[in-house]
Amino acid sequence: MASKVTALAWRPQTFEDVVGQEVITRTLQNAIQSDRLHHAYLFSGLRGSGKTSTARIFAKALNCEQGPTATPCLTCVPCTEIKQGNALDVVEIDAASNNSVDNVRELREWVRYASARDRFKIFIIDEVHMLSTSAFNALLKTLEEPPPNVIFIMATTELHKIPATILSRSQQFDFRQIPLFKIEDHLKKIADAEKIQIDIDALPLIAQSSGGSLRDALSIFDQVIAASNEQITRLDVQSILGVVEDATLLDLLDAIIHLAPEKMFNRVGELVHYGHDLRLVYDAFTGLIRDSLVLKTTQNASDMVMRKYGHGSQHEDLLTKITDADLIRILDLLVQNESMFRAANEPRYAFELVLLKIMELKRLVPLETLINDLKRLGSEGLTEKKNEAT
Ligand SMILES: Nc1ncnc2c1ncn2[C@@H]1O[C@H](COP(=O)(O)OP(=O)(O)OP(=O)(O)O)[C@@H](O)[C@H]1O
Ligand SMILES: [Mg+2]
Ligand SMILES: [Zn+2]
Repeated sequence: MASKVTALAWRPQTFEDVVGQEVITRTLQNAIQSDRLHHAYLFSGLRGSGKTSTARIFAKALNCEQGPTATPCLTCVPCTEIKQGNALDVVEIDAASNNSVDNVRELREWVRYASARDRFKIFIIDEVHMLSTSAFNALLKTLEEPPPNVIFIMATTELHKIPATILSRSQQFDFRQIPLFKIEDHLKKIADAEKIQIDIDALPLIAQSSGGSLRDALSIFDQVIAASNEQITRLDVQSILGVVEDATLLDLLDAIIHLAPEKMFNRVGELVHYGHDLRLVYDAFTGLIRDSLVLKTTQNASDMVMRKYGHGSQHEDLLTKITDADLIRILDLLVQNESMFRAANEPRYAFELVLLKIMELKRLVPLETLINDLKRLGSEGLTEKKNEAT
């Protein structure tokens, strides 16, 4: 099967196509409909989560011949040009590459020429955190006195590198990690459309490896397709990606709950034996504890969990055997020991050590339980004495 770049072929073209960023796309659509447009927008957040795509869709919405409209037509001249990346009035600048703005003059000149044909002149500045200081200053000047009909859409993965002066002059949108079940649904849709035969239970593994980035999910998908036969199975994906099985993670939690170090040592040994990267296992196990806490403490957990563990009820069963407080303590230990673990020469020992510490923690009965036990013992003791007396 030929490998190709699915992420490019499947770039979302309308606001509705953008997966998992509904709050943002709705807000932008509302702004257009109610004619409340800003001069500058800043799209920040996770890599491959839809920032550039949304910027282009927004540009179409603004400059579509039928517009400004929340539903660009996709067929008029401005719409098609923006899709092809050669629109007259939409300038895309990648601050990280060749066509970057290195100096003040360039940017000022670009901005000075008002829109040539279309409604707005739109500057999409990608990786805006990479702009030189002088370019930032020029940008700031233009943001302070924005020429009419000029709109800036800036995108960055590193919000903390954006000067406060720029932040305060733009409307900011934070692109979040895309929930894994939405990534799975999207992959399913693409597999169906492209007639790719992949077992449905293989998709969660791809989504898990993506860390919530849809672009990463699609490139992993390409990688899996390139390395597999006609019918792609869960086992194929597992061996290509080296993902940790749900069952193994649940077994580790089981070992902790039942204070069974032997089981824990065995599972870790197997992981090492099969060549797993223990750093990924550490992340996945931390994710399991975090998701377990979400499940135990919230009502509508399904939107908030990163991953679903196994098909059966093993996870649910385990959750009935452990308290919220215990889970918090486990998560605390995992987070606190993370840098020690990452710095260790021998990750295996460090991982085992952390798991042993967690078990030790479980052995220390929580104070509340102890007090309750004492109270109960006390009152039982009293009734016994009474009984003796009569
Ligand atoms: N929210 C999303 N909905 C649908 N597809 C998406 C989404 N996010 C990313 N993609 C896919 O990933 C590709 C790249 O997305 P995009 O360029 O919009 O990401 P980005 O957030 O700008 O990433 P970067 O931070 O690396 O610039 C798109 O062509 C599309 O296939
Ligand atoms: Mg981008
Ligand atoms: Zn149009």
